[in-house]
Amino acid sequence: MIVSKTVRAASVALTLLAMVLGGCDNSGSTAGDGATTRPAGGKQITVGFAQVGAESAWRTANTDSVKSEAQKRGIELKFVDAQGKQDAQIAAVRGFIAQRVDVILLAPIVETGFEPVLKEAKAAKIPVILSDRRVATSDDSLYVTFIGSDFIEEGRRAAEFLVKKTGGNAVIAELQGTTGSAPANDRKKGFEEVISKHPDMKIVLSQTGDFRRDGGKKVMEAFLKSAQGAQINALYAHNDDMAIGAIQAIEEAGRKPGSDIVIVSIDGVRGAFEAMAAGKLNCTVECNPLIGPQLFDAVEKVVAGEEVPKRIQVEEGVFTQEQAAAELPNRKY
Ligand code: AHR
Repeated sequence: MIVSKTVRAASVALTLLAMVLGGCDNSGSTAGDGATTRPAGGKQITVGFAQVGAESAWRTANTDSVKSEAQKRGIELKFVDAQGKQDAQIAAVRGFIAQRVDVILLAPIVETGFEPVLKEAKAAKIPVILSDRRVATSDDSLYVTFIGSDFIEEGRRAAEFLVKKTGGNAVIAELQGTTGSAPANDRKKGFEEVISKHPDMKIVLSQTGDFRRDGGKKVMEAFLKSAQGAQINALYAHNDDMAIGAIQAIEEAGRKPGSDIVIVSIDGVRGAFEAMAAGKLNCTVECNPLIGPQLFDAVEKVVAGEEVPKRIQVEEGVFTQEQAAAELPNRKY
């Protein structure tokens, strides 16, 4: 059993390495005829992007933003979808190092475990830009900059909405994001910081739905069937996809999402605005995935030897049911 697992893991790693070395997917960086739309006279920049996966609508929009921006700027992009597996993401980074790309973009699936490969990139003098999620490290020379949202603040904003909406009185179920990921850790922290000031607000059930719609539905079904299920009158989901899955579970259980159970989630994807317009979701806290332009501004500066700030933050808002219908046509993701 142990042997077969090890063999499988090794073959996954080898396949990924071969994919990276073979440039398996750089479709976002090339024009329709396969030619790179490179700016005349400029140095051809090659960037490797180790993406988390395709777990949510947010992630798909993020991938599209990075691919289209690379293409717009004539930057060759080597793209690897790690399918939610840290080993695959580490193998992808190693592949980019072997290929000697100019810059590596890494959206780390979880916070820990990346230090060794980041040290390898540093030793190879290949700058790494952290995209969307940070890593836990005491050595910030292992990356050039971190471009992404303030997840703790997002958690606080979700809680502040719930305090207002419920008058500070709520029996809360929580759907957490991927265990060990920066957004799951921080969104929990920010939310708890605010509700801890309200003695009549309690999280009674909390479990991961892995940022996936089917994960949110499955976990919510189990919550509703549990001993505390009947008392839940609020749901905090760390992303919209899980909230949308949970809405289905709530309806199937014969309760009304948005009124019997007040729901707040994070991302601001179009599906969340549709659910708000239908009265089934109460609030979404925006987390903007369209960071391709900021990432490639930083890439070009780094390649040109210019300084970039260690932290580049993304500006975001909060949207309620009342704003949903008017805002829906403006949503870009
Ligand atoms: O890291 C950002 C989070 O990852 C988004 O909120 C979530 O939808 C995604 O999968």
